[in-house]
Amino acid sequence: MTNTDITFPEGFLWGAATAAYQIEGAAHEDGRKDSIWDVFSREPGAVADAHNGDIACDHYHRSADDVALMKQLNLQAYRFSTSWARCMPDGMTPNVEGIRFYSRLVDQLVAAGIKPWLTLYHWDLPQALEDQGGWANRDTAYRFAEYAAVMHEALGDRVRIWTTLNEPWCSAFLGYAAGIHAPGRQDPRAALAAAHHLLLGHGLAAQELRRRDPGVQLGLTLNLTVPDPVDPGSDADVDAARRIDGQFNRIFLDPVFRGQYPQDVLDDVRHLGLEEFIEDGDLAVISEPLDLLGVNYYHGEAVTTSVDPAVDDAGPTPQGRPVASPYVAADGVRSVPRGLPVTGMGWEVQPDGLRRLLVRIHEEYTGPAGMPVYITENGAAYDDVPDRSGFVDDQDRLAYFDSHLRAVRAAIDDGADVRGYLAWSFLDNFEWAWGYHQRFGLVRVDYDTQQRIPKASALWYARAAAANALRT
Ligand code: NOJ
Repeated sequence: MTNTDITFPEGFLWGAATAAYQIEGAAHEDGRKDSIWDVFSREPGAVADAHNGDIACDHYHRSADDVALMKQLNLQAYRFSTSWARCMPDGMTPNVEGIRFYSRLVDQLVAAGIKPWLTLYHWDLPQALEDQGGWANRDTAYRFAEYAAVMHEALGDRVRIWTTLNEPWCSAFLGYAAGIHAPGRQDPRAALAAAHHLLLGHGLAAQELRRRDPGVQLGLTLNLTVPDPVDPGSDADVDAARRIDGQFNRIFLDPVFRGQYPQDVLDDVRHLGLEEFIEDGDLAVISEPLDLLGVNYYHGEAVTTSVDPAVDDAGPTPQGRPVASPYVAADGVRSVPRGLPVTGMGWEVQPDGLRRLLVRIHEEYTGPAGMPVYITENGAAYDDVPDRSGFVDDQDRLAYFDSHLRAVRAAIDDGADVRGYLAWSFLDNFEWAWGYHQRFGLVRVDYDTQQRIPKASALWYARAAAANALRT
Protein backbone atom coordinates (compact mmCIF):
# COMPACT_ATOMS: atom_id res chain seq x y z
CA MET A 1 0.00 0.00 0.00
CA THR A 2 1.30 3.46 -0.79
CA ASN A 3 0.67 6.59 1.23
CA THR A 4 -1.76 7.86 -1.33
CA ASP A 5 -4.00 4.80 -1.39
CA ILE A 6 -7.61 5.52 -0.52
CA THR A 7 -8.39 3.11 2.28
CA PHE A 8 -11.76 2.14 3.73
CA PRO A 9 -12.64 1.58 7.39
CA GLU A 10 -11.84 -1.83 8.81
CA GLY A 11 -14.63 -4.29 8.13
CA PHE A 12 -16.00 -2.32 5.17
CA LEU A 13 -18.02 -4.87 3.18
CA TRP A 14 -17.26 -5.37 -0.53
CA GLY A 15 -19.73 -7.25 -2.66
CA ALA A 16 -21.99 -7.29 -5.67
CA ALA A 17 -25.69 -7.58 -6.37
CA THR A 18 -28.14 -9.13 -8.82
CA ALA A 19 -31.90 -9.76 -8.94
CA ALA A 20 -33.90 -12.91 -9.61
CA TYR A 21 -35.73 -12.02 -12.80
CA GLN A 22 -32.64 -10.40 -14.29
CA ILE A 23 -30.39 -13.47 -14.05
CA GLU A 24 -32.15 -16.72 -13.18
CA GLY A 25 -34.01 -17.86 -16.29
CA ALA A 26 -35.79 -21.20 -15.71
CA ALA A 27 -38.98 -19.22 -15.91
CA HIS A 28 -41.18 -22.26 -16.32
CA GLU A 29 -39.35 -24.81 -14.20
CA ASP A 30 -40.07 -26.51 -10.90
CA GLY A 31 -43.48 -24.98 -10.46
CA ARG A 32 -42.60 -21.32 -11.04
CA LYS A 33 -45.49 -19.32 -12.47
CA ASP A 34 -45.65 -15.95 -14.16
CA SER A 35 -44.60 -12.79 -12.42
CA ILE A 36 -45.67 -9.38 -13.71
CA TRP A 37 -42.38 -9.18 -15.62
CA ASP A 38 -43.07 -12.40 -17.54
CA VAL A 39 -46.43 -11.03 -18.61
CA PHE A 40 -45.19 -7.49 -19.30
CA SER A 41 -42.32 -8.84 -21.43
CA ARG A 42 -44.86 -10.50 -23.70
CA GLU A 43 -46.64 -7.23 -24.41
CA PRO A 44 -45.71 -5.90 -27.83
CA GLY A 45 -43.36 -2.95 -27.49
CA ALA A 46 -42.91 -3.26 -23.75
CA VAL A 47 -39.31 -4.52 -23.77
CA ALA A 48 -36.68 -3.72 -26.39
CA ASP A 49 -36.60 -6.41 -29.09
CA ALA A 50 -39.15 -8.43 -27.12
CA HIS A 51 -36.41 -9.71 -24.82
CA ASN A 52 -37.52 -11.51 -21.66
CA GLY A 53 -36.16 -13.35 -18.63
CA ASP A 54 -36.99 -16.89 -19.80
CA ILE A 55 -33.33 -17.86 -19.95
CA ALA A 56 -31.44 -14.73 -18.88
CA CYS A 57 -28.03 -15.78 -17.48
CA ASP A 58 -29.33 -19.28 -16.72
CA HIS A 59 -28.16 -18.71 -13.19
CA TYR A 60 -30.79 -21.16 -11.94
CA HIS A 61 -28.70 -23.97 -13.41
CA ARG A 62 -25.30 -22.37 -12.91
CA SER A 63 -25.33 -21.05 -9.39
CA ALA A 64 -22.48 -23.30 -8.20
CA ASP A 65 -20.14 -21.97 -10.91
CA ASP A 66 -21.33 -18.42 -10.35
CA VAL A 67 -20.60 -18.62 -6.64
CA ALA A 68 -17.14 -20.03 -7.41
CA LEU A 69 -16.52 -17.02 -9.64
CA MET A 70 -17.68 -14.64 -6.89
CA LYS A 71 -15.13 -16.21 -4.60
CA GLN A 72 -12.40 -15.83 -7.21
CA LEU A 73 -13.31 -12.15 -7.43
CA ASN A 74 -12.95 -11.72 -3.64
CA LEU A 75 -16.59 -10.78 -3.11
CA GLN A 76 -17.39 -10.80 0.59
CA ALA A 77 -21.15 -10.42 0.20
CA TYR A 78 -23.64 -11.27 -2.49
CA ARG A 79 -26.99 -9.52 -2.64
CA PHE A 80 -29.58 -11.52 -4.56
CA SER A 81 -33.34 -11.51 -4.62
CA THR A 82 -35.77 -14.37 -4.24
CA SER A 83 -38.53 -14.73 -6.79
CA TRP A 84 -41.92 -14.65 -5.09
CA ALA A 85 -43.42 -16.29 -8.19
CA ARG A 86 -40.94 -19.16 -7.86
CA CYS A 87 -41.40 -19.64 -4.14
CA MET A 88 -45.17 -18.98 -3.97
CA PRO A 89 -46.38 -19.18 -7.56
CA ASP A 90 -49.93 -18.07 -6.79
CA GLY A 91 -48.66 -15.51 -4.33
CA MET A 92 -49.92 -17.52 -1.37
CA THR A 93 -48.96 -21.19 -1.48
CA PRO A 94 -45.36 -22.25 -0.86
CA ASN A 95 -43.59 -24.20 -3.61
CA VAL A 96 -40.97 -26.42 -2.03
CA GLU A 97 -39.08 -27.01 -5.30
CA GLY A 98 -38.67 -23.29 -5.93
CA ILE A 99 -37.58 -22.53 -2.40
CA ARG A 100 -35.04 -25.36 -2.59
CA PHE A 101 -33.10 -23.46 -5.26
CA TYR A 102 -32.42 -20.60 -2.84
CA SER A 103 -31.54 -23.00 -0.07
CA ARG A 104 -28.88 -24.52 -2.35
CA LEU A 105 -27.63 -21.10 -3.38
CA VAL A 106 -27.32 -20.01 0.24
CA ASP A 107 -25.43 -23.20 1.12
CA GLN A 108 -23.05 -22.56 -1.78
CA LEU A 109 -22.46 -18.99 -0.62
CA VAL A 110 -21.89 -19.95 2.99
CA ALA A 111 -19.48 -22.72 1.96
CA ALA A 112 -17.56 -20.15 -0.10
CA GLY A 113 -17.39 -17.75 2.84
CA ILE A 114 -19.62 -15.20 1.09
CA LYS A 115 -22.29 -13.43 3.11
CA PRO A 116 -25.74 -14.03 1.62
CA TRP A 117 -27.80 -10.81 1.53
CA LEU A 118 -31.38 -11.54 0.60
CA THR A 119 -33.83 -9.11 -0.97
CA LEU A 120 -37.43 -10.32 -0.81
CA TYR A 121 -38.88 -8.14 -3.53
CA HIS A 122 -37.03 -6.95 -6.60
CA TRP A 123 -40.05 -6.09 -8.77
CA ASP A 124 -41.39 -9.51 -9.76
CA LEU A 125 -44.83 -9.71 -8.20
CA PRO A 126 -46.69 -12.98 -8.89
CA GLN A 127 -49.10 -12.21 -11.73
CA ALA A 128 -51.83 -13.93 -9.68
CA LEU A 129 -51.62 -11.04 -7.23
CA GLU A 130 -51.53 -8.41 -9.98
CA ASP A 131 -54.75 -9.94 -11.26
CA GLN A 132 -56.26 -8.92 -7.93
CA GLY A 133 -55.03 -5.33 -8.22
CA GLY A 134 -51.33 -5.78 -7.49
CA TRP A 135 -49.72 -3.23 -5.21
CA ALA A 136 -52.67 -0.91 -5.69
CA ASN A 137 -54.60 -3.46 -3.60
CA ARG A 138 -53.93 -3.27 0.13
CA ASP A 139 -54.16 -7.07 0.50
CA THR A 140 -50.88 -7.45 -1.38
CA ALA A 141 -49.06 -5.93 1.61
CA TYR A 142 -50.37 -8.72 3.85
CA ARG A 143 -49.50 -11.39 1.29
CA PHE A 144 -45.97 -9.94 1.22
CA ALA A 145 -45.55 -10.37 4.97
CA GLU A 146 -46.69 -14.00 4.65
CA TYR A 147 -44.14 -14.53 1.88
CA ALA A 148 -41.44 -13.01 4.13
CA ALA A 149 -42.34 -15.51 6.86
CA VAL A 150 -42.15 -18.46 4.46
CA MET A 151 -38.75 -17.39 3.19
CA HIS A 152 -37.44 -16.80 6.68
CA GLU A 153 -38.63 -20.21 7.78
CA ALA A 154 -36.59 -21.77 4.95
CA LEU A 155 -33.47 -19.60 4.99
CA GLY A 156 -33.36 -17.60 8.21
CA ASP A 157 -30.90 -19.98 9.84
CA ARG A 158 -28.25 -19.09 7.24
CA VAL A 159 -29.23 -15.67 5.88
CA ARG A 160 -28.65 -12.93 8.42
CA ILE A 161 -29.17 -9.81 6.28
CA TRP A 162 -32.65 -9.26 4.90
CA THR A 163 -33.89 -6.45 2.69
CA THR A 164 -37.63 -6.20 2.28
CA LEU A 165 -38.03 -4.14 -0.89
CA ASN A 166 -35.72 -2.99 -3.63
CA GLU A 167 -36.46 0.51 -4.95
CA PRO A 168 -40.17 0.82 -4.18
CA TRP A 169 -40.15 4.09 -6.16
CA CYS A 170 -39.61 2.08 -9.34
CA SER A 171 -42.26 -0.49 -8.44
CA ALA A 172 -44.84 2.18 -7.72
CA PHE A 173 -44.08 5.01 -10.12
CA LEU A 174 -42.38 3.32 -13.09
CA GLY A 175 -44.79 0.39 -12.81
CA TYR A 176 -48.12 2.12 -12.15
CA ALA A 177 -47.66 5.75 -13.30
CA ALA A 178 -45.07 5.85 -16.11
CA GLY A 179 -45.97 2.39 -17.43
CA ILE A 180 -42.37 1.71 -18.46
CA HIS A 181 -42.03 -1.16 -15.98
CA ALA A 182 -44.37 -4.02 -15.18
CA PRO A 183 -47.30 -4.04 -14.77
CA GLY A 184 -47.25 -1.20 -17.29
CA ARG A 185 -50.10 0.83 -15.86
CA GLN A 186 -50.43 4.59 -16.28
CA ASP A 187 -52.65 5.55 -13.40
CA PRO A 188 -51.20 8.13 -10.96
CA ARG A 189 -53.77 7.31 -8.30
CA ALA A 190 -52.90 3.61 -8.46
CA ALA A 191 -49.21 4.55 -8.27
CA LEU A 192 -49.74 6.39 -4.98
CA ALA A 193 -51.81 3.50 -3.63
CA ALA A 194 -48.97 1.19 -4.68
CA ALA A 195 -46.37 3.39 -2.96
CA HIS A 196 -48.33 3.28 0.29
CA HIS A 197 -49.02 -0.44 0.11
CA LEU A 198 -45.38 -1.19 -0.68
CA LEU A 199 -44.41 0.77 2.43
CA LEU A 200 -47.05 -1.06 4.43
CA GLY A 201 -45.85 -4.42 3.10
CA HIS A 202 -42.31 -3.42 4.04
CA GLY A 203 -43.39 -2.58 7.59
CA LEU A 204 -45.48 -5.73 8.03
CA ALA A 205 -42.66 -7.92 6.72
CA ALA A 206 -40.11 -6.14 8.91
CA GLN A 207 -42.29 -6.74 11.98
CA GLU A 208 -42.78 -10.37 11.04
CA LEU A 209 -39.06 -10.97 10.53
CA ARG A 210 -38.18 -9.19 13.76
CA ARG A 211 -40.77 -11.20 15.71
CA ARG A 212 -39.43 -14.46 14.35
CA ASP A 213 -35.77 -13.52 14.66
CA PRO A 214 -34.76 -10.65 16.94
CA GLY A 215 -31.11 -10.86 15.83
CA VAL A 216 -31.80 -10.46 12.10
CA GLN A 217 -30.23 -7.52 10.24
CA LEU A 218 -33.17 -5.76 8.61
CA GLY A 219 -33.08 -3.21 5.87
CA LEU A 220 -34.91 -1.45 3.06
CA THR A 221 -33.27 -0.40 -0.18
CA LEU A 222 -34.26 2.93 -1.69
CA ASN A 223 -33.10 4.47 -4.92
CA LEU A 224 -32.43 8.06 -4.08
CA THR A 225 -31.71 10.98 -6.31
CA VAL A 226 -30.08 14.37 -5.92
CA PRO A 227 -32.27 16.92 -7.67
CA ASP A 228 -30.58 20.26 -8.25
CA PRO A 229 -32.47 23.27 -9.55
CA VAL A 230 -31.10 24.28 -12.96
CA ASP A 231 -31.24 27.90 -11.85
CA PRO A 232 -30.87 28.15 -8.06
CA GLY A 233 -32.06 31.75 -8.33
CA SER A 234 -35.38 30.72 -9.87
CA ASP A 235 -38.20 30.06 -7.41
CA ALA A 236 -39.85 27.79 -9.97
CA ASP A 237 -36.72 25.64 -10.38
CA VAL A 238 -36.15 25.47 -6.63
CA ASP A 239 -39.75 24.34 -6.25
CA ALA A 240 -39.26 21.79 -9.04
CA ALA A 241 -36.31 20.33 -7.10
CA ARG A 242 -38.41 20.25 -3.93
CA ARG A 243 -41.19 18.36 -5.71
CA ILE A 244 -38.84 15.77 -7.19
CA ASP A 245 -37.10 15.33 -3.84
CA GLY A 246 -40.54 14.89 -2.28
CA GLN A 247 -41.94 12.43 -4.79
CA PHE A 248 -38.72 10.45 -5.19
CA ASN A 249 -36.90 10.51 -1.85
CA ARG A 250 -38.95 11.88 1.03
CA ILE A 251 -42.19 10.06 0.16
CA PHE A 252 -40.37 6.89 1.28
CA LEU A 253 -37.79 8.22 3.74
CA ASP A 254 -40.16 10.20 5.94
CA PRO A 255 -42.73 7.46 6.63
CA VAL A 256 -39.93 4.97 7.39
CA PHE A 257 -37.77 7.24 9.55
CA ARG A 258 -40.32 9.70 10.95
CA GLY A 259 -43.59 7.83 10.83
CA GLN A 260 -45.25 10.47 8.67
CA TYR A 261 -45.57 11.55 5.06
CA PRO A 262 -44.03 14.97 4.37
CA GLN A 263 -46.71 17.65 4.50
CA ASP A 264 -45.62 19.28 1.23
CA VAL A 265 -45.90 15.94 -0.59
CA LEU A 266 -49.35 15.32 0.88
CA ASP A 267 -50.33 18.79 -0.32
CA ASP A 268 -48.87 18.25 -3.81
CA VAL A 269 -50.66 14.93 -4.35
CA ARG A 270 -53.89 15.67 -2.44
CA HIS A 271 -56.00 15.62 -5.63
CA LEU A 272 -54.81 12.03 -6.23
CA GLY A 273 -56.13 10.71 -2.93
CA LEU A 274 -53.00 9.36 -1.19
CA GLU A 275 -54.57 10.03 2.21
CA GLU A 276 -57.56 7.83 1.39
CA PHE A 277 -55.26 4.80 1.32
CA ILE A 278 -53.72 5.46 4.75
CA GLU A 279 -55.44 3.65 7.62
CA ASP A 280 -54.99 4.20 11.34
CA GLY A 281 -51.84 2.53 12.58
CA ASP A 282 -50.23 2.17 9.12
CA LEU A 283 -47.49 4.68 9.79
CA ALA A 284 -46.52 2.98 13.05
CA VAL A 285 -46.08 -0.26 11.10
CA ILE A 286 -44.16 1.45 8.32
CA SER A 287 -41.73 3.05 10.78
CA GLU A 288 -40.75 -0.26 12.41
CA PRO A 289 -37.10 0.38 13.36
CA LEU A 290 -34.53 -1.05 10.95
CA ASP A 291 -30.87 -2.00 11.30
CA LEU A 292 -29.62 -0.47 8.09
CA LEU A 293 -30.63 1.56 5.08
CA GLY A 294 -29.64 0.38 1.62
CA VAL A 295 -28.97 3.17 -0.84
CA ASN A 296 -28.95 2.63 -4.59
CA TYR A 297 -27.42 5.52 -6.46
CA TYR A 298 -26.82 5.90 -10.17
CA HIS A 299 -27.10 9.60 -10.97
CA GLY A 300 -28.54 12.91 -9.88
CA GLU A 301 -30.46 15.33 -12.03
CA ALA A 302 -30.87 18.99 -12.85
CA VAL A 303 -34.53 19.98 -12.83
CA THR A 304 -36.40 22.92 -14.21
CA THR A 305 -39.81 24.00 -15.33
CA SER A 306 -38.53 26.20 -18.11
CA VAL A 307 -38.03 23.87 -21.06
CA ASP A 308 -40.08 22.32 -23.76
CA PRO A 309 -42.45 19.85 -22.12
CA ALA A 310 -41.75 17.47 -24.99
CA VAL A 311 -38.47 16.59 -23.24
CA ASP A 312 -39.04 13.23 -21.65
CA ASP A 313 -37.79 12.99 -18.10
CA ALA A 314 -38.33 9.25 -17.89
CA GLY A 315 -35.25 8.90 -20.11
CA PRO A 316 -35.00 7.47 -23.58
CA THR A 317 -37.52 4.73 -24.17
CA PRO A 318 -35.90 1.78 -25.87
CA GLN A 319 -39.02 0.53 -27.52
CA GLY A 320 -40.77 3.69 -28.56
CA ARG A 321 -43.86 2.98 -26.47
CA PRO A 322 -45.57 6.03 -25.04
CA VAL A 323 -44.37 6.57 -21.51
CA ALA A 324 -46.01 8.86 -18.98
CA SER A 325 -44.17 10.87 -16.33
CA PRO A 326 -43.39 8.97 -13.14
CA TYR A 327 -43.83 12.26 -11.27
CA VAL A 328 -47.51 12.28 -10.50
CA ALA A 329 -47.66 15.85 -9.23
CA ALA A 330 -44.87 17.72 -10.95
CA ASP A 331 -46.48 19.05 -14.11
CA GLY A 332 -44.00 20.73 -16.36
CA VAL A 333 -40.96 19.65 -14.33
CA ARG A 334 -38.20 18.25 -16.52
CA SER A 335 -34.70 16.89 -16.01
CA VAL A 336 -32.24 18.45 -18.40
CA PRO A 337 -28.69 17.49 -19.34
CA ARG A 338 -25.86 19.48 -17.76
CA GLY A 339 -23.16 18.53 -20.20
CA LEU A 340 -21.71 15.88 -17.86
CA PRO A 341 -20.46 12.59 -19.33
CA VAL A 342 -23.21 10.01 -19.58
CA THR A 343 -23.36 6.20 -19.37
CA GLY A 344 -24.93 3.87 -21.91
CA MET A 345 -28.29 4.52 -20.23
CA GLY A 346 -27.85 8.24 -20.89
CA TRP A 347 -27.46 8.79 -17.14
CA GLU A 348 -25.13 11.56 -16.01
CA VAL A 349 -21.94 10.50 -14.26
CA GLN A 350 -21.95 12.60 -11.11
CA PRO A 351 -20.02 10.96 -8.26
CA ASP A 352 -20.18 14.03 -6.07
CA GLY A 353 -23.95 13.60 -6.04
CA LEU A 354 -23.37 10.35 -4.15
CA ARG A 355 -21.20 12.08 -1.56
CA ARG A 356 -23.79 14.82 -1.06
CA LEU A 357 -26.61 12.28 -0.88
CA LEU A 358 -24.86 10.17 1.76
CA VAL A 359 -24.06 13.19 3.91
CA ARG A 360 -27.61 14.47 3.64
CA ILE A 361 -29.16 11.10 4.46
CA HIS A 362 -26.85 10.77 7.44
CA GLU A 363 -27.70 14.22 8.76
CA GLU A 364 -31.44 14.07 8.21
CA TYR A 365 -32.39 10.42 8.60
CA THR A 366 -29.94 7.64 9.41
CA GLY A 367 -27.60 9.59 11.73
CA PRO A 368 -30.34 10.59 14.19
CA ALA A 369 -31.60 6.97 14.08
CA GLY A 370 -28.05 5.69 14.76
CA MET A 371 -28.34 3.55 11.64
CA PRO A 372 -25.58 2.59 9.20
CA VAL A 373 -25.94 2.84 5.43
CA TYR A 374 -24.81 0.39 2.79
CA ILE A 375 -24.56 1.16 -0.89
CA THR A 376 -26.69 -1.74 -2.12
CA GLU A 377 -26.25 -0.81 -5.79
CA ASN A 378 -24.06 1.48 -7.85
CA GLY A 379 -22.68 0.90 -11.30
CA ALA A 380 -22.89 1.74 -14.97
CA ALA A 381 -23.82 0.33 -18.35
CA TYR A 382 -21.46 1.02 -21.24
CA ASP A 383 -21.16 -0.24 -24.78
CA ASP A 384 -18.79 -3.09 -24.06
CA VAL A 385 -16.57 -4.26 -26.90
CA PRO A 386 -15.15 -7.72 -26.25
CA ASP A 387 -11.88 -8.76 -27.85
CA ARG A 388 -11.47 -12.09 -29.67
CA SER A 389 -11.33 -13.97 -26.38
CA GLY A 390 -14.40 -12.20 -25.02
CA PHE A 391 -12.43 -9.98 -22.64
CA VAL A 392 -13.78 -6.45 -22.16
CA ASP A 393 -11.28 -3.75 -21.23
CA ASP A 394 -13.97 -1.54 -19.68
CA GLN A 395 -11.92 1.40 -18.47
CA ASP A 396 -15.09 3.53 -18.51
CA ARG A 397 -16.92 1.29 -16.02
CA LEU A 398 -13.77 0.89 -13.95
CA ALA A 399 -13.48 4.70 -13.72
CA TYR A 400 -17.15 4.93 -12.74
CA PHE A 401 -16.65 2.48 -9.86
CA ASP A 402 -13.44 4.19 -8.82
CA SER A 403 -14.92 7.68 -8.75
CA HIS A 404 -18.03 6.58 -6.87
CA LEU A 405 -16.04 4.62 -4.30
CA ARG A 406 -13.95 7.75 -3.77
CA ALA A 407 -17.18 9.65 -3.24
CA VAL A 408 -18.19 7.07 -0.62
CA ARG A 409 -14.84 7.54 1.13
CA ALA A 410 -15.32 11.33 1.00
CA ALA A 411 -18.79 10.97 2.53
CA ILE A 412 -17.32 8.84 5.34
CA ASP A 413 -14.75 11.60 5.92
CA ASP A 414 -17.67 14.02 6.12
CA GLY A 415 -19.27 11.93 8.86
CA ALA A 416 -21.55 9.51 7.00
CA ASP A 417 -21.66 5.98 8.47
CA VAL A 418 -21.28 3.90 5.32
CA ARG A 419 -20.38 0.27 6.03
CA GLY A 420 -20.17 -1.34 2.61
CA TYR A 421 -20.56 -1.21 -1.14
CA LEU A 422 -22.29 -3.70 -3.43
CA ALA A 423 -21.52 -3.18 -7.09
CA TRP A 424 -24.32 -3.43 -9.63
CA SER A 425 -23.98 -5.92 -11.07
CA PHE A 426 -22.10 -9.17 -10.65
CA LEU A 427 -23.20 -10.28 -14.15
CA ASP A 428 -24.50 -8.61 -17.29
CA ASN A 429 -28.22 -9.26 -17.17
CA PHE A 430 -31.76 -8.45 -18.28
CA GLU A 431 -31.97 -4.69 -17.90
CA TRP A 432 -35.77 -4.50 -17.67
CA ALA A 433 -37.34 -2.46 -20.49
CA TRP A 434 -33.94 -2.29 -22.20
CA GLY A 435 -33.65 -6.06 -22.35
CA TYR A 436 -30.11 -7.38 -22.84
CA HIS A 437 -28.94 -4.26 -24.65
CA GLN A 438 -27.56 -2.57 -21.56
CA ARG A 439 -24.73 -4.34 -19.76
CA PHE A 440 -23.97 -3.46 -16.13
CA GLY A 441 -21.89 -6.52 -15.24
CA LEU A 442 -18.46 -6.77 -13.67
CA VAL A 443 -18.55 -10.06 -15.54
CA ARG A 444 -19.46 -10.31 -19.20
CA VAL A 445 -22.09 -12.87 -20.12
CA ASP A 446 -21.97 -14.27 -23.63
CA TYR A 447 -25.66 -15.00 -24.04
CA ASP A 448 -25.06 -17.48 -26.86
CA THR A 449 -22.80 -19.74 -24.82
CA GLN A 450 -23.55 -18.51 -21.28
CA GLN A 451 -19.81 -18.12 -20.83
CA ARG A 452 -18.81 -15.76 -17.99
CA ILE A 453 -15.76 -13.57 -18.59
CA PRO A 454 -14.60 -11.12 -15.90
CA LYS A 455 -14.06 -7.66 -17.34
CA ALA A 456 -11.14 -5.37 -16.47
CA SER A 457 -13.41 -3.69 -13.92
CA ALA A 458 -13.96 -7.04 -12.19
CA LEU A 459 -10.23 -7.68 -11.85
CA TRP A 460 -9.75 -4.16 -10.54
CA TYR A 461 -12.67 -4.54 -8.11
CA ALA A 462 -11.32 -7.86 -6.84
CA ARG A 463 -8.01 -6.19 -5.99
CA ALA A 464 -9.75 -3.27 -4.28
CA ALA A 465 -11.90 -5.67 -2.22
CA ALA A 466 -8.86 -7.68 -1.13
CA ALA A 467 -6.91 -4.56 -0.20
CA ASN A 468 -9.88 -2.68 1.28
CA ALA A 469 -8.38 0.21 -0.65
CA LEU A 470 -8.21 1.94 -4.03
CA ARG A 471 -4.80 2.39 -5.54
CA THR A 472 -4.02 5.89 -6.73
C1 NOJ B 1 -31.67 -0.52 -10.07
C2 NOJ B 1 -32.36 -1.84 -10.07
O1 NOJ B 1 -32.50 -2.28 -8.75
C3 NOJ B 1 -31.70 -2.88 -10.94
O2 NOJ B 1 -32.57 -3.94 -11.06
C4 NOJ B 1 -31.32 -2.26 -12.26
O3 NOJ B 1 -30.80 -3.21 -13.16
C5 NOJ B 1 -30.34 -1.15 -12.03
N1 NOJ B 1 -31.00 -0.13 -11.26
C6 NOJ B 1 -29.82 -0.49 -13.30
O4 NOJ B 1 -30.84 0.15 -13.94
